[in-house]
Amino acid sequence: MTWTEFKTGKARAENAMSLKEKIDIERLPQHVAIIMDGNGRWAKKQGKHRIFGHQSGVQSVREAAESAAELGISYLTLYAFSTENWNRPKIEVNALMSLLLQTINDEIVTLNKNNIRLNAIGDLQSLPKRNRDRLLKAIEETSGNDRMTLTLALSYSSRWEIIEAARKLAVEIANGQCKPEEVDQECIEKLLTTYNMPDPELLIRTSGEYRISNFMLWQIAYAELYFTPKFWPDFRKEDLYEAILNFQCRERRFGKISEQLNKK
Ligand code: FPP
Repeated sequence: MTWTEFKTGKARAENAMSLKEKIDIERLPQHVAIIMDGNGRWAKKQGKHRIFGHQSGVQSVREAAESAAELGISYLTLYAFSTENWNRPKIEVNALMSLLLQTINDEIVTLNKNNIRLNAIGDLQSLPKRNRDRLLKAIEETSGNDRMTLTLALSYSSRWEIIEAARKLAVEIANGQCKPEEVDQECIEKLLTTYNMPDPELLIRTSGEYRISNFMLWQIAYAELYFTPKFWPDFRKEDLYEAILNFQCRERRFGKISEQLNKK
């Protein structure tokens, strides 16, 4: 490590620490969701292959998970692979699947050491068998952990999830388990892949894009949205702290007016 690298690292750590101290632990979002974006552009900017960007993004996954767990966030959900990502060049899809497998293998010990439960949402049947098997095994191996639930959205899209829910609901109605006029919010929530989780209160997207890209459309109805220009491989603990500090400055009205909230 050069002296400049040491100084930069030290300054970064000090900045992260001072941001962390400003966070009000009593008002943390219970569930943070992240659209990790910009791996490809980050790599290309350096004249490297897009896959290098994905590989570098793993360190950001570690930092996000570590900082969220340290703060006391109960749920962290990461959009790792969308239904639409299957349409990318085969070489990139294969590299992402290998990276996923490798990361699960590498991180399982750390997840258990840190009492983090791994979870996955999405069309897991569409994953290559060895990925699915390893993922399900890792989910099983961490199922007793209760400090934080780390959910990977894999082969996930909101429209896929809503269609699945609609199909299941149609079956319930056809079987007479439920009447059409009885269908309410709770009925639908129970059929979503996130049925056992609170809705995300904070949604972060990296890379300067202002889109939701088919991610948790039902669940983010009242989420606070936070966009950062940073590409995902540059995302560090201090970026999560900044997003949470920004979240804590917002007034969440849920359709009410300010005065109603202050009355309590
Ligand atoms: C978006 O960047 C990122 C992805 C499609 C994949 C995310 C994967 C990782 C961070 C690595 C592995 C993660 C886990 C959980 C093991 P992009 O490729 O869309 O970037 P671009 O918008 O610049 O093209």
